[in-house]
Amino acid sequence: MNVNIHNFSTLDFDSIEIQPEWNMPEKRENRMHSIHAYPAKFPAFITTRAIEKAKQNGIVVNNIADIFCGCGTVAFESVCAGRNFWGYDINPVATLIASTKSRSYDDKKIGEYYARILKAFEECKTDEQNKVYQNERINYWFSKSQIDLLLRLRTAIKISIDNPTYLNFFLCAFSNILKPCSKWLTKSIKPQVDPNKTPKTPLEAFALQISMMRKANKEIERIQGVACINTANFLEQEFDEPFIDLVVTSPPYVTSYEYADLHQLSTLWLGYTEDFKTFREGTIGSLFHSEDYSSNLEKLNKTGMGIVTALAKEDRRKAKSVAQYYVDMQLAVSKVVKMLNRNGACLFVIGNTEYKGIHINNAQHLVECLITEGFKDIEVDRRKISNKILTPYRDATGKFASIAGSSRKIYSEEFVIYAQK
Ligand SMILES: C[S@@+](CC[C@H](N)C(=O)[O-])C[C@H]1O[C@@H](n2cnc3c(N)ncnc32)[C@H](O)[C@@H]1O
Repeated sequence: MNVNIHNFSTLDFDSIEIQPEWNMPEKRENRMHSIHAYPAKFPAFITTRAIEKAKQNGIVVNNIADIFCGCGTVAFESVCAGRNFWGYDINPVATLIASTKSRSYDDKKIGEYYARILKAFEECKTDEQNKVYQNERINYWFSKSQIDLLLRLRTAIKISIDNPTYLNFFLCAFSNILKPCSKWLTKSIKPQVDPNKTPKTPLEAFALQISMMRKANKEIERIQGVACINTANFLEQEFDEPFIDLVVTSPPYVTSYEYADLHQLSTLWLGYTEDFKTFREGTIGSLFHSEDYSSNLEKLNKTGMGIVTALAKEDRRKAKSVAQYYVDMQLAVSKVVKMLNRNGACLFVIGNTEYKGIHINNAQHLVECLITEGFKDIEVDRRKISNKILTPYRDATGKFASIAGSSRKIYSEEFVIYAQK
């Protein structure tokens, strides 16, 4: 439905009709989308529909961006559709997956590198001095014998591959076997030990992973566009000139603390940091980069202010974190305007929630941001969240949540918000 400055503040967003066209894809997603687990991944077909919609609205879509690109869902679909892509994510695990996914590979070369890795693995000795042995979290998740094998495998990958593109491919494979090789409860996206689990043997898990990735690679028809994936805080980006025709994105739903938690195995093993919690900083809504609450209150738009004021009466800490989240989103939207060409468009997928009886209307807040930034044509649709494992329930800023026994009301629908400059 069309939303404008006159009706957005009185509109009941949660009664907007579900648009079945945003619910389900027409065909199965390309296998490349499944080469690595990523908890917040959204459905790939959203990108194709967004491109169609922009075209119907007269936009020539050459350049696409995702300002929170995650594991590269939009990246992959964009380059397959022959568009150039710019992606930003603060999490290096996300950008490793996104970079790996947004290219195709010569299968013969994969085979040659894989053979080299296996040979190097056999020849590698365990390096007892390596600092992974001192890392408390690695020792928490892996037995000593698994650490030995994973370290040998990681070393074998690094010494066998001289080509950065193929190095990414194999490191991405290594990253995705860490969970099955650890004590992490298989079915849980949250960090939880399973005392009864028998972890997979690294070399066997790696063989399966490589075979799955080769299959996915063969399924790619052609990649014509080029992807530029940046490990960066989008809020710190400056754009002097517009260069993007279409932004397709879904803002973060979980707090940085949890994102850092969720990807800790990869973060630690790939050497991105020795303390995965450093990744809390800079993440949207994180209190770790929070300015003081009162200065955030001054920046909030009307919708944001209403929600934060109501929340503050119930839970001041939650109010602070939601205030930070909204201020960050306001800044993000102002940067989207700067990157978009004249007539360009953006499409956001975002969910609402409720906390202690307070309706946390993220969609309305976002629409107000878009209106403030001068977008004229804004359409809001609702879609059903079909895959609850890939797109877990969450609250506004917001923690992963289970449906039962929560003070938070959790929704299984989300909004698709399209706005044109
Ligand atoms: C909902 S996920 C996006 C998922 C993505 N659509 C996909 O399909 O993989 C939101 C992403 O925002 C990233 N993020 C959070 N704060 C950020 C920031 N300040 N700058 C850039 N990325 C950020 C998180 O790391 C996360 O990957």
